[in-house]
Amino acid sequence: MYAVGMIRGKPGVHGFRIPKPEIREPDEVLVKVKEVGLDGTDFGIVKQGTPDIAEGRDRIVLGHEMVGVVEEVGNEVKSLAPGDAVVLTVRRGCGICRPCLYHQSDMCMTGLFKERGIHKLDGSLTQYVVDEERYMVKVPRELVKLAVFTEPLSIVEKGIQQIKIIQSRLPWDCPHPEHSFQSKQWGGCKTALVVGAGPLGLLASALLRLARARTFVTDIVPENTIKARLVENIGAHYIDARTLTPQEIVDICCRPTGNLHVMFEAAGAAETAVRLIPFLSRSSIAVGTGIPRGDLRIQVDAAELVRQIVRYNQVIVGSVNSNRKHFEMALQDIGDVDSRFDGMLSKMTTHRFKLSDYQQAFALSDTERIKTVIEVDPWD
Ligand code: BGC
Ligand code: ZN
Repeated sequence: MYAVGMIRGKPGVHGFRIPKPEIREPDEVLVKVKEVGLDGTDFGIVKQGTPDIAEGRDRIVLGHEMVGVVEEVGNEVKSLAPGDAVVLTVRRGCGICRPCLYHQSDMCMTGLFKERGIHKLDGSLTQYVVDEERYMVKVPRELVKLAVFTEPLSIVEKGIQQIKIIQSRLPWDCPHPEHSFQSKQWGGCKTALVVGAGPLGLLASALLRLARARTFVTDIVPENTIKARLVENIGAHYIDARTLTPQEIVDICCRPTGNLHVMFEAAGAAETAVRLIPFLSRSSIAVGTGIPRGDLRIQVDAAELVRQIVRYNQVIVGSVNSNRKHFEMALQDIGDVDSRFDGMLSKMTTHRFKLSDYQQAFALSDTERIKTVIEVDPWD
């Protein structure tokens, strides 16, 4: 069967043939891949020419955002049957640390995990994949056409969950019990700034809006672009950062209430993130989900930065990957995200390509694209 990925010592992205996988263990499931989303990680690995290929192998199949349909199940598989739509989680635990042994490999302590389509394991930019039942999350029938967004939404679900868990430390300062960090409408009476209006930033903004937060989103594109329009469509406010200082950006967010409670970094914009920290409010939290690539050296007043973080009880937290629970949360919310914000997921899908047109998909410039979806086997 056909697959798209990277080959050791051969720059760029390539199409090649690999054997169709077979079920070998009773808990395995054979899935026919339907759609695969591409993200910054995929484009970054290809652009930088830094695939993480398993030892003894000479290539890796890319693709970690996927939805597919079960074709065949092993004897011991209980929760899935042929015809069910599924999404695969990305990380496979190290098998050593407790988080990995207890289904939280997103919090792996050894770093010896693998990730499908990213670190060592083949991904889903191909026609069929086999994996264990426990790594598959069943997609309700009515959601199959949105489900390629489950993985990126799960990343954002985890980021927001970190905010809620950590900020539950605060004796919250508003008269509405329903705005406590434990509740669904935790964002009420709170202001959030999302950095980046790409897929993660838009999905984060959507969840922040569903939680009732006053939400601002900053990026470096003009206001008449699709990214900015999608931000406004979510009921968030777009801020073009190109001509503003970090202080000015935060001032815009703080104008209504005086406080910026949450910063959600979703672009890997390393300098912007660091420059914004000095303007965050007391007891605020900054969560990072974007992974910057390459190096970037800047000068900062480290003493002032640390002094402020301490004096203001601030939290700077990173959040990577997601586990099965976050995928389930994503599938709980994905229908609402799409319908509440008039089909935002299809609007975010700026480009669709057949698997054989992968070169075009990877060659697009990132100013015109939000989400690129590869249609491996179109839904009928
Ligand atoms: C994926 C995560 C993964 C991370 C680092 C992201 O693009 O969505 O699942 O953990 O890359 O490899
Ligand atoms: Zn581990």
